[in-house]
Amino acid sequence: MNQTGQTQDELKTLVAQAALNYVVPGEYLGVGTGSTVNLFIDALAASGIAIKAAVSSSIASTQRLQSLGVPVVDLTLVLRMAVYIDGADEIDANGFMVKGGGAALTREKIVAAQADRFVCIADASKRVEVLGTFPLPVEVIPMAAPELMRQFSLLGGQAKLRMVNDQAFVTDNGQHLLDVVGLRINDPLGFENKVSQWPGVVTVGVFAHQRAHVCLLGTTQGVQTLVYD
Ligand code: A5P
Repeated sequence: MNQTGQTQDELKTLVAQAALNYVVPGEYLGVGTGSTVNLFIDALAASGIAIKAAVSSSIASTQRLQSLGVPVVDLTLVLRMAVYIDGADEIDANGFMVKGGGAALTREKIVAAQADRFVCIADASKRVEVLGTFPLPVEVIPMAAPELMRQFSLLGGQAKLRMVNDQAFVTDNGQHLLDVVGLRINDPLGFENKVSQWPGVVTVGVFAHQRAHVCLLGTTQGVQTLVYD
């Protein structure tokens, strides 16, 4: 709860509602993953705005969209979308983000790359000066995990395999996830370029090439619209 008594969930609800202004009726819409996006999906379904279909970034979002009557199509059937709406774990002053806390980073990056505009919806706690405080998710091919952990340690980070019930977590794509702490990512574009080239990295959770064009930030003063393009 913040000074004006709003909870983080209330701030997420505000930005989820504000994102409806960016939905283009009659068009395909890219939809991300996470608790903020879940609130957006609920708002979209309740709004009555008719889109051609949603392109979803995870099994969880697909199930939620379909259960609320929003049609979903496979990305392979859609060349371009005007807008992709998704949350973030961290966002900086340039719209560069860390994403993947909800494990959907690979599909999120793929869908975002096919959209003209990325609209990020986040509560104010996500706004940072330098990326790297939130553990950086990296989706990896399992056999490469030990060597990739070593590579991150050479950068000053500590990588841990994400676990669930004593088992390595498995993504929607059948791969594993590392969460890396101890990094200060001063050059997000350079960092994304470098780590993406390491053999065995499927996707690094730095979204610099697929950065946000707009961020709707839920603050104690209401929704702030940050425009990066
Ligand atoms: C999902 O993999 C993530 O990239 C989410 O977009 C991110 O973790 C934000 O999630 P919340 O809206 O739940 O904070």
